[in-house]
Amino acid sequence: MSLPSPWRADFPAFAAFTASAQTYLDSAATAQKPQAVLDALLGYYLEGAANVHRAQHAPGERATLAFEGTRRKVAQWLNADSPEEIVFTRGSTEGLNLLAYGLEHLFVEGDEIAVSALEHHANLLPWQQLARRRNLKLVVLPLDAAGDIDLEQADALIGPRTRLLAVSQLSNVLGRWQPLAPLLALARAQDALTVVDGAQGVVHGRHDLQALGCDFYVFSGHKLYAPDGCGVLYGRRRALAQLRHWQFGGEMVQYVDYHEARFRPPPLGFEAGTPAIAATVGLGAALDYLGAQDEQAIVAHEAALHQRLLAGLARFDGLHLLSESHTAMASFVVEGVHNADLSHLLSEQGIAVRAGQHCAMPLLRRLGMPGAIRVSLGLYNDGDDLERFFAAFHHALELLR
Ligand SMILES: Cc1ncc(COP(=O)(O)O)c(C=O)c1O
Repeated sequence: MSLPSPWRADFPAFAAFTASAQTYLDSAATAQKPQAVLDALLGYYLEGAANVHRAQHAPGERATLAFEGTRRKVAQWLNADSPEEIVFTRGSTEGLNLLAYGLEHLFVEGDEIAVSALEHHANLLPWQQLARRRNLKLVVLPLDAAGDIDLEQADALIGPRTRLLAVSQLSNVLGRWQPLAPLLALARAQDALTVVDGAQGVVHGRHDLQALGCDFYVFSGHKLYAPDGCGVLYGRRRALAQLRHWQFGGEMVQYVDYHEARFRPPPLGFEAGTPAIAATVGLGAALDYLGAQDEQAIVAHEAALHQRLLAGLARFDGLHLLSESHTAMASFVVEGVHNADLSHLLSEQGIAVRAGQHCAMPLLRRLGMPGAIRVSLGLYNDGDDLERFFAAFHHALELLR
């Protein structure tokens, strides 16, 4: 059974991968783009690039309409209350740094920030550095045996000094959905702000942020089949109102004199300088593309790929999965084999997987591993991709053991 992907033909990169004998299994790092996104990018440039929000000419108006159109689409996609709750960033990393600087004034010495033991560096370092700047305590919520944030321990650790909780929705290493609802409830009970790193979670299904009830949510366009260089910070109106301006420059101001200035309210007040206009227009096209697909069919296809990946991996002796993943990915180590050697031999055979510490060095250290291999799949992968991977994997292990 070949398990074809009905969406593969929409992604021209796969023709190039086939021509160069490459098998792409690294979508959790970045995803390929559908033709609709490439068309939107090219279309923006072919029709004439122009800056947004400032020009009183037709090309500028067209660019602004397309750019603001994406804001509305993102707001709808996330079920935000209003497009004004959508701030465009360069990606999740920038969104989280914006928060760590923009909320800094709310903290006093001794306050606590809670993160989890599985965070990507992007959702650890901004808070770690804020804690160091302000003499705060960074509380690290431990994981249970399955690889989820342990709710009992979280209950004990989130307390009256907790001013902010920042956690991932879906782990980029373990591929497990985190128990966000009860975690957010614990933080809310202490009047703490809540930040959700949706970099991985946003790719799988649609999430209703009003129902989730977080204060802030970040994601990157490039993992959601959109161009790189663009991303989103969602902030509930009430939460955004607490955010101080971080980057300063053109377009985020209402009034400027040499020694003072007045800044715009969100979202534009947090979008200093020329944004990633083409990429953001491309993000709108990616949402249009995804929205036009049969969501249940995507879920079913990814689940079938996931099962096949797990079944295939189970046939290899000495292979240990880091977790029982929930999405179409698997991170694993092989006894007696270094992940770097393995990924090198896979790469020599045209198989693109991720190896190493996955920007979660403390987690890997806690798991007692120097690194792991991660196979992550997108809606465009098919059964043949997996067969090529298994054959190459088998060959690599024969050479290494
Ligand atoms: C869970 C998680 N958070 C944050 C990021 C950072 O995203 P970006 O590099 O696009 O800013 C990633 C990227 O891999 C991620 O997987």
